Amino acid sequence: MKSERKCAIILHGGAGDLSNLSTNELGRLTRATTKALERGFESTKGKTALDGVQDAVLTMENSGLFNAGIGSVFTLSGRIEMDAAIMNGRNLSCGAVGAVSNVRNPILLARRILEETDHSLVVGRMARRLAEKFGLAGTVLPSNKRREMWKQMRKNPAKYLKKNIAYASDTVGAVAIDAKGNIASGVSTGGLWLKLDGRVGDSALVGAGLYAENEAGGVAATGIGEAIMNVLLAKIVHGYMSTGRSAMDACKFGIENITAKKGPNTAGLVAIDSQGNFGYALNTKTMIVASMSEGMDRPTAKILTDRSLA
Ligand code: GLY
Repeated sequence: MKSERKCAIILHGGAGDLSNLSTNELGRLTRATTKALERGFESTKGKTALDGVQDAVLTMENSGLFNAGIGSVFTLSGRIEMDAAIMNGRNLSCGAVGAVSNVRNPILLARRILEETDHSLVVGRMARRLAEKFGLAGTVLPSNKRREMWKQMRKNPAKYLKKNIAYASDTVGAVAIDAKGNIASGVSTGGLWLKLDGRVGDSALVGAGLYAENEAGGVAATGIGEAIMNVLLAKIVHGYMSTGRSAMDACKFGIENITAKKGPNTAGLVAIDSQGNFGYALNTKTMIVASMSEGMDRPTAKILTDRSLA
């Protein structure tokens, strides 16, 4: 039997550009991130890493402050279509949903797909039916602020359709390691503002938006889904950790790679390696990150900037 390990969790509230937010708005985001971290850490300690990432992501989906769950952004036609995935590093099992609209917490649907079906990724009619079968069906009612933004953006969609990170931020994600050394990752997003109906991003795709495997570590990505999918960002980071590199080195390597191939302002990463070390990196202006491990007095939640990592 494996010896007891130190539990740890790291999460992000999206890579992008928060430089225009007021102090009050930044404070609200930081408090919501800290609440999600505390919830996720408790579940990681009391249950498993898989429960920890699920509950951290769930808390952010329910806050309405992030682009996930009830805070999701609109498609070009004014719909809400969300992606989410969760992966268990103990046995590489995963559950994911793409472009779902009748569920308030896509991460819970992804978890049920992992646990209760033979499949890894479900979309369309059957994703809707599974949400109903599992008692997870519900309507996402976006805030008036989000709807007003959509109306304004809809007047000049070309300006926003260039996959601009400023309009892609706030995807949420978490990685945890529990006392048995099991590692898990989870992500959830409303995707890009004004995306086409039916577009699915990296957050539904294992190897792109997330990866977890006990021997190496786990990773969760945020940013422009198309760029992240093109390079399989999470698998790059996992592959680097599997050579014995730390989570921090692996995140830096992943960001250097995507920056070289797809340009700056494309992604952010958080990770935990098999030794329980944290990693994070970004090539965007900002990314909210929070982490907690046994032995730490209190959680840290901070808004990282590209300069703070230089
Ligand atoms: N990373 C979120 C998305 O592009 O959908």
